Amino acid sequence: MSNYHIKHLEEYYQVYRKSIREPENFWEEVAEEHFVWRKKWDKVMSWDFSKPEIKWFEGAKLNITENCIDRHLATRGDKTAIIFEPNNPDEEAQHISYRQLYHKVNKFANVLKDHGIKKGDRVCIYVPMIPELAISLLACAKIGAIHSVVFAGFSSRALSSRINDCDCKMVITSDGSFRGTKSIDLKGIVDEALENCDGVETVLVVNRTGGDVVMTEGRDKWLQPLLDAASDELEAEVMDAEDPLFILYTSGSTGQPKGMVHTTAGYMVYTAYTFKNVFQYREDDVYWCTADIGWITGHSYIVYGPLANGATTVMFEGVPHYPDFGRFWQIVEKHKVNQFYTAPTAIRALAKQGAELVEKYDLSSIKVLGSVGEPINEEAWHWYNDVVGKKKSPIVDTWWQTETGGIMITPIPFVTPTKPTYATLPFIGIQPALMDENGLEQKGNQVEGRLCIKFPWPSIARTIWGNHQRYKDTYFSAYENMYFTGDGALRDEVGYYRITGRVDDVIIVSGHNLGTAPIEDAINEHPAVSESAIVGFPHDIKGSALYGFVTLKEVGESRVHDNLRKEINQLISDRIGPIAKLDKIQFTEGLPKTRSGKIMRRILRKIAENDTSNLGDISTLLNPEVVQDIMDNSL
Ligand code: PRX
Repeated sequence: MSNYHIKHLEEYYQVYRKSIREPENFWEEVAEEHFVWRKKWDKVMSWDFSKPEIKWFEGAKLNITENCIDRHLATRGDKTAIIFEPNNPDEEAQHISYRQLYHKVNKFANVLKDHGIKKGDRVCIYVPMIPELAISLLACAKIGAIHSVVFAGFSSRALSSRINDCDCKMVITSDGSFRGTKSIDLKGIVDEALENCDGVETVLVVNRTGGDVVMTEGRDKWLQPLLDAASDELEAEVMDAEDPLFILYTSGSTGQPKGMVHTTAGYMVYTAYTFKNVFQYREDDVYWCTADIGWITGHSYIVYGPLANGATTVMFEGVPHYPDFGRFWQIVEKHKVNQFYTAPTAIRALAKQGAELVEKYDLSSIKVLGSVGEPINEEAWHWYNDVVGKKKSPIVDTWWQTETGGIMITPIPFVTPTKPTYATLPFIGIQPALMDENGLEQKGNQVEGRLCIKFPWPSIARTIWGNHQRYKDTYFSAYENMYFTGDGALRDEVGYYRITGRVDDVIIVSGHNLGTAPIEDAINEHPAVSESAIVGFPHDIKGSALYGFVTLKEVGESRVHDNLRKEINQLISDRIGPIAKLDKIQFTEGLPKTRSGKIMRRILRKIAENDTSNLGDISTLLNPEVVQDIMDNSL
């Protein structure tokens, strides 16, 4: 018997040890007992981090939708799979049962097929948080098409580069999206994006807002009539364990986003197993993750992980502050949410509003609270624990990444004693290592270093779409035989991990990964700009915010500078999206550089953080004189 559901600390240690000593036996038992397969594997796993090549359940045949939907029909056909809570609280929530989901996915998948989408084709999904978003992922999976979801807050430029990077044949979108009091013209953004995407043959448009849209003859089609006409039965495509399930883009240290490729069987097994344990999900629970399906958190813990367990998962279309800052708590009360999973940035924003809005609602259904996306600071942790959880609902501070597919370091609620700001212990099967700058592993406790993982787990991304070399360079070249996460961490005296933040050029703003390079590229497109450097600085709600140091081709006056600031932020919005806008822009005469011409971000970071007492040795810089000038004029 596999230990599918861990219930106490002893058991955690026992199962953890087994998963490390006999990973193949361990994962084979989980896979065997808790999933349905068309054919079982020939080999549980093989790996070589030097190539890198990682395979799980090789030779197995399956379709993930049979695991997420079909197999539940016999016992859970009438159970609610998805609760859709609209942006507007006066609009009725929808409850979609597993049987309804089955038919909806079949219809959608038939429409995809009718439009020439086959196994292995890439489909871009640019849809807001409405049921069609979850259904479109599953419809792709049903026919073996590879979905590439682009968060519906990205700009047309960001969208077109992602569509082209993986040659999508089709885009699924909606006329618009509702976000609080705003409605956003998504179809217009898609139209703009497609001016630069020759490979897209079809655009399917969901009718959500009823806004005006232009439909391009022969290319654009309203989805609803096609669904109405489609059959609600369809045989699933039989997939290989290692067939790609989806691509999801994440920022990197160059302007080009990385299309992380996740494959089918390992991803399914790991997301399902983590979901069950990290949220201690029980049959009749209602689970709500507030993330957007446009991010990995939504893929793994709104769609695939919960559905593979036959869970009821809430999808919320709106924002935490509309109609007021009590909206999350009102939803918890309304749907009697048992597990609530959100990001520290949301917690900080809600905490700022005080406790009254929380106390207005009955939150007694909550059993487990989750946090993800960035380090949770002590103050936010305590507020979450005391005010929301009433000190009775454990907080699971879950550390993981787009690349890891599933949760990696986390407490198991009611099992692992929690500690504020600590992600605590590695999950089953995960072997972390902390490395120093010389490539030596820091063994034992009370050490700090760069966080690596020594051994593959089932849901690790297998490659970067179209660029395996970059995959190798980014994750497997810093340390031999290790996956390098890009994060720093410490291990305390009892072996608990605390994530200390990124050690590379990625800055996490409101839980969103932003690479500095693409933002700098956008700024440098401005005709007045000569050069720029972006760093993060602490922000009480966003965690980190962006500070830009910009040199101009010609020095202007302050009045001109104000306009320039607006123009620069507009450029960033257009090229990437509003989430990447800068909070502060300082115009400087130069940027501190090493003699080889590299910008010394370390110094800029200190200035932005207002911590200039020990800047270190600046005498070796090419232009040490600019440092004082930048400090004198810092914002
Ligand atoms: O720096 C870590 C931070 O978010 C990064 C991964 O971002 P992304 O791929 O967008 O995935 C976010 C959702 C899984 C990590 O490298 N991060 C994520 N969770 C935590 C975190 N940092 C500290 N504590 C966490 N719980």
